[in-house]
Parts: sequence; C-alpha cells; structure tokens
Amino acid sequence: MQIYMPTNVYSEDNCVMNHRKELAALGKKALLVTGKHSSRANGSLEDVKNALQKTGTAYAVFDKIEENPSIETVMQAREFGIEENVDFVIGIGGGSPMDAAKAIALMVANPGEDESILYEAHEFEALPVAEVPTTAGTGSEVTPYAILTIHARRTKQSISYRIYPVLALIDSRYLKTESVDTLINTTVDALAHLIESYLNTNANSYNRMYSEKGLRLFAKVKDDLLQCRRFGGEPKQTLSDEAFDMLMQMSATAGMAITHTSTSLPHGLSYAVTYEMGVPHGKAVGIFLPGFLAYYEEKEDVRAALRQMCFASVDDFTGYLDELLGKVEIADDLWKKDVEMIMENQAKLKNYPFTMDEGTLYKFRR
Ligand SMILES: [Fe+2]
Repeated sequence: MQIYMPTNVYSEDNCVMNHRKELAALGKKALLVTGKHSSRANGSLEDVKNALQKTGTAYAVFDKIEENPSIETVMQAREFGIEENVDFVIGIGGGSPMDAAKAIALMVANPGEDESILYEAHEFEALPVAEVPTTAGTGSEVTPYAILTIHARRTKQSISYRIYPVLALIDSRYLKTESVDTLINTTVDALAHLIESYLNTNANSYNRMYSEKGLRLFAKVKDDLLQCRRFGGEPKQTLSDEAFDMLMQMSATAGMAITHTSTSLPHGLSYAVTYEMGVPHGKAVGIFLPGFLAYYEEKEDVRAALRQMCFASVDDFTGYLDELLGKVEIADDLWKKDVEMIMENQAKLKNYPFTMDEGTLYKFRR
C-alpha cells in the first residue's frame, strides 16, 4: 500500500492572501488561467492579483477557458504564456481552468513540442502549478489529472501526464456566489469521486480514509442540498458557512481519493453524454451512480458506502439523486455507442471491483 499526496494544501478564509509568500515562491511571473466570468464574480481573481502585487510578483491573465476546455484553447494559452515569459501557472475556478492550467504548464515548459505530447507518455516536465478552486466538485486542486475535450474524437479524456499542483489554496467563501444548479452538479461530481474511489479495484485501507471522510461529510450536507433544490434562490440563503466549508472539504478529500484510485464506470460513461448532449459533468456522472451500486447491493462494500452516506438502500439513494438532479433522457443510439465505447475502455472497466458485462452496463441508463 502507498499514500502519495504531494500537494501542499491550505484551507481557510482569506487563504490566498494568507499564503501569498508560498504562491510567490513558485516563480517570477505567473500565468493566471481562468474563465470569463465566475472568478471575477466570486472575488478569487482579484484575491490572486492582490496577493501577487503585494509580493511584487508579475503576472499575465488568460481568461478564455471554456467549460470542458479543448486542446485548441490550451495551445492558445500556451502561445500567450510563452510571449509573456511566464514561469509558473495558477489555475483559478472550477475543474475547467484548473485542469487546463496543468496542461498549459506542460506545454509552456516545452515550447518546441506540439499538442501531440499531451496524449503520449513522455518524460516532459511542466512548470509549477498552483490551484485556487472556486467550485466544490472536481478536486483538481489536489489531483494530477487534466481532462480535456478532444473534438476529433467527440469526447473528453485525461492527458497522459500526472501533474500534481504544488500548492492548493482553498477558500469556501468563493462558493457563495454559485447558482443552485452549479453547486448541486459539482457536489454530485465530488460524490461520484468518493463512491467510484471507494468501490474500486485500486482501493485499500489507506486510500479509503479519504472516501470515508468525504462520504461522511456528504451525509451531513445532503439534506441542506435538497433544501437548496426545493426552495431555489441562492445557495447562501439556505446553506450555513459551515456547510460551504464541508462541501469544499468533501471535494478536496474526494480529489485525494481519486488521486490514488482514479475513477470508474460512471465517469467513463459520462463523457460522451457531456460532449453530445451538453449535460454538465457532475449531472452526467450522477445519472450512472445508482446503476454503479444497484447490481451488487448485497456486497458489504456497497452497503458500507450506503451506510456512510446515511442511505438505507440503493432505492433510497436513487430517489434522493432523482430529486436532486432531475432526469436526463439519453437517446438509444448514443447510449448504445457509449456502452460499446466503455466496454473497450479497459482503464475504466478494470477499476470496477465486481464483474461487469455489456448487458448489465446497458441497464445503467434510467
Ligand atoms: Fe469528475
């Protein structure tokens, strides 16, 4: 058994400003990688700029990261980073900018290479990366993964490199401006990370500490989330500061869990649904969680996962998710292609700890 969690993680209010010296120690000029809107709305971009200014560190901002970032966008950011002569990268936002930051850090550090290196296993080094998460879902601030959209293959896939952020600065106050939909979808993504890591052929008693902690945190906030869905409005009208903190902790521990095990079938099945139907990542993954548990409900590990979430049965869990997420209709032809694709995806298939065949997988759609 092995535990390897090299990212230096801080989690507190005013985290970015409190740890500005560690941030500035990563280099002389930072490339700030973010999307167009949310990092401005929640104050995270301003916090990073202020922290860098206070330490006299130069920076340049690339704010064109789209949801489910493409290789093309990564390459555009790489050109900008090289022109600006940056020597470290800070991802600010949800999974999209944080994942893109890792891929950009690799490409800027290797200006003589083209994008083909992203999906080939070479020994190239990346620039140092820091991450400032503003959603509670992906856990990308502590994982070595960077999932990009490959338009040529009409899907998403993690690059072939494991790029651990050097520093993660987590402040749950950034969650407070999120919409109910984003908050719920991202939380379900984190939940999927916990479940797919707990029920995984790579799971062991060391790395299960992360999933167990995260599933218990989820149990504490799950009723509050449902209240958010039922009453709408802004999440901060329903959730306490403590609940926002627990969501951020759940997301980071879920990231630590999948760092050790990777994800499994729900994630593998979700990518085509996101690409072809535009369903947000967490929601697309959540559709497949009941199926992931249902066919082996009698196994002790499945029952233990349900117990930690405080659900009496898979039916209980399914009813909860249906109300939280709503239903998604997946067309027959897309579903058939998706199942065929996952049956060929040995990386995801081998992580499932029980026997899985095409007929059972086909029933994962509800
Ligand atoms: Fe995910």
